[in-house]
Amino acid sequence: MSFLHNKNILLGVTGGIAAYKSVVLVRRLKELGANVQVVMTESAQEFITPLTFQAISGNPVHSSLLDVEAEAAMGHIELARWADAIIIAPATANSMARLANGEADDLLTTICLASNAPLAIAPSMNQAMWSNRATQENLQTLKSRDIEIYGPASGEQACGDVGEGRMLEPEDIVEKLEALFNHQLLSGVRVMVTAGPTQEAIDPVRYISNHSSGKMGYAIAQAALEAGASVSLISGPCALQANNRIQLTHVVSAEEMMTAVHADINDIDIFISVAAVADYRVKQVAEQKLKKHSDSITLELVKNPDILSSVAALDDKPFSVGFAAETEKLEEHARQKLVSKKLDMIVANRVDKSDSGFNSDYNSATVIWGDDSQRFEKSTKSRLASDLLQLIAKHYINNKR
Ligand SMILES: Cc1cc2nc3c(=O)[nH]c(=O)nc-3n(C[C@H](O)[C@H](O)[C@H](O)COP(=O)(O)O)c2cc1C
Repeated sequence: MSFLHNKNILLGVTGGIAAYKSVVLVRRLKELGANVQVVMTESAQEFITPLTFQAISGNPVHSSLLDVEAEAAMGHIELARWADAIIIAPATANSMARLANGEADDLLTTICLASNAPLAIAPSMNQAMWSNRATQENLQTLKSRDIEIYGPASGEQACGDVGEGRMLEPEDIVEKLEALFNHQLLSGVRVMVTAGPTQEAIDPVRYISNHSSGKMGYAIAQAALEAGASVSLISGPCALQANNRIQLTHVVSAEEMMTAVHADINDIDIFISVAAVADYRVKQVAEQKLKKHSDSITLELVKNPDILSSVAALDDKPFSVGFAAETEKLEEHARQKLVSKKLDMIVANRVDKSDSGFNSDYNSATVIWGDDSQRFEKSTKSRLASDLLQLIAKHYINNKR
């Protein structure tokens, strides 16, 4: 499975002669399982029609910033949050200059300023435009802001000149984008992630559970894989598919999850507990389906094992990270958990908002460790997971020193 599978790629197309090649780029990204939204500048539409990109990407093309209808459908901030990565291909000399100046007078430049997703550009222009001091100075400015520069290649140009300035071939751009999601920070490190809800049986047909979809845990497992770790995922019941390079174990109840976690925990370097494990289970599970005889029934609940605490209490404990899903006093409750469970880090997120948290594709979070914390604003779970993994990796590596 490609590292681009399920990734949200925002492709910016600017007004260069190589714009036609970006159709092949979209096609290849789609073949690898990426979701692609195309944003075109006004000039780009003189070179190739939005209809072509719409047909190939399967999504409407975005081009206008000050358009009420477009803004209501998927506005610039939504597109900025949606993107796991932004690639501008081709990137004209003009677009490089505008990015370097921090301009925001069209949809594409505004999205670039509003997004915290990694930004890459594939410059494409005449060799004289490329070697011009103005372009080279803009290039240095963009590099200093950690913008990835893909190419350009050398060779014969559309205008007949020979030299540097050709856009990289779509295949080469795809390869670089894949590498962006495969940064190897945790190469050789063994990571275990728990995800999803647990189900606690009442009788053979009924259970107690919660609204966890598993999306955040699966995204964390994928991000750990992309960081080069070998990943095992212990998952409660959910309808998600994990990358086939992740070692997946399915469990149902909290007790089963506890057993699965401890079966392998001695081989684990980083344990990330994302699962929404039921705090209680039914004391006496009925052997047969309960019948509707009386107006009310009472279920006696007993406490489930605290899997995360049990891992963090091990003599040779792995670097332990918890998730705190809270509906109030987010930081206060999360900090208490960090201390009482003896964790290395805790990721606190609110689950009482319909547009983020449980079930949603979006989330925001505050990560807390020691006396410090870092806030991550709302983005896709995949993007957030990638940011969280980089922070976790940094602290894990520092801890080992
Ligand atoms: C036929 C033609 C081809 C062009 N090709 C390029 C090109 O490959 N690279 C480039 O930087 N500019 C090229 N330009 C100039 C850009 O289209 C122009 O700078 C435009 O303002 C770019 O707008 P944008 O960056 O907002 O898309 C070309 C112009 C014409 C008329």
